[in-house]
Amino acid sequence: MSWLSGKGDSPAGNTSTDMLRVELPEQLEAVTGQWRQEGLKIALVPTMGNLHEGHLALVEAAQNEADRVVCSLYVNPTQFGEDEDFERYPRTLEADITLLQEAECDVLFTPDSRVVYPNGLDNAVHLVASPDLAASLEGANRPGHFDGVVSVVARLFNMVKPDIAVFGEKDYQQLLVIRRLVEDLGYRIRILPVPTVREPSGLAMSSRNNYLEPLQREAASHLQTVLQETASRVKGGQAEMKKLELEAEIKLEQHGLRVDYFAVRCSEDLAIPQKGDRHLRILAAVWCGNTRLIDNVFVKRVGICKI
Ligand code: PAF
Repeated sequence: MSWLSGKGDSPAGNTSTDMLRVELPEQLEAVTGQWRQEGLKIALVPTMGNLHEGHLALVEAAQNEADRVVCSLYVNPTQFGEDEDFERYPRTLEADITLLQEAECDVLFTPDSRVVYPNGLDNAVHLVASPDLAASLEGANRPGHFDGVVSVVARLFNMVKPDIAVFGEKDYQQLLVIRRLVEDLGYRIRILPVPTVREPSGLAMSSRNNYLEPLQREAASHLQTVLQETASRVKGGQAEMKKLELEAEIKLEQHGLRVDYFAVRCSEDLAIPQKGDRHLRILAAVWCGNTRLIDNVFVKRVGICKI
């Protein structure tokens, strides 16, 4: 356990802007238990590190809603498929610490796998994410991904015991899956969604953007353009959803992006929209070279509905 301020590592000498780094749940509990006794509200910002402005927006939202903020950083192996980028996922702890200190985060929790999965990955209890939310889209393309997400998020909830947990809307399906986890397992935690932070080109901020070459970055920005174009056509009820999805896929492929899915769904539960459904999400996943990117936009349908 260490205070990160550049002013020495003694808890006694800490100032209000120092950030504490802890690796063990007991250490965390010593701090959060005290906060709870003082009646302070605690927010958790779970991350896998390689922090960018998107994560800092989560920290800021957490600070606006709670008295103390714990940011967790753990690259969770169980949410990566066998052929996915777990090994090469960017690990930038020193830079992450600097960003969190500047953002005045209170505690950085960096458990390792022996803490998160104390009986080893093979013997760990794994949760299964609700199939109605988790089986389609990301779940269909990344089997087991959301099971890994709920397995780790439940453990983080148990260790941090936050009042609020903050998740980005960029991973919209994840947000719904975690809301369900909270509801179904009875966690008394408020899930706070935060809008996606974008680069000036519209590209959603993501740790995986670091894999992109400059020309790929340009191509990747079309994901957002095509989502927005489709959103305005869906909004006015201009054409059948299936047709709009197909046209969007063709446009993305023309920009050199290989499409995993491009789908208009109900915002609330990712069901296929019926005539009366007005609150919709358009969700997409594309490959830009070897990099897989996801994004989504909200759309409120006002025009005559075509299905
Ligand atoms: O969104 C992420 O970065 C991860 O899926 C999360 C929620 C930290 C769980 O590992």
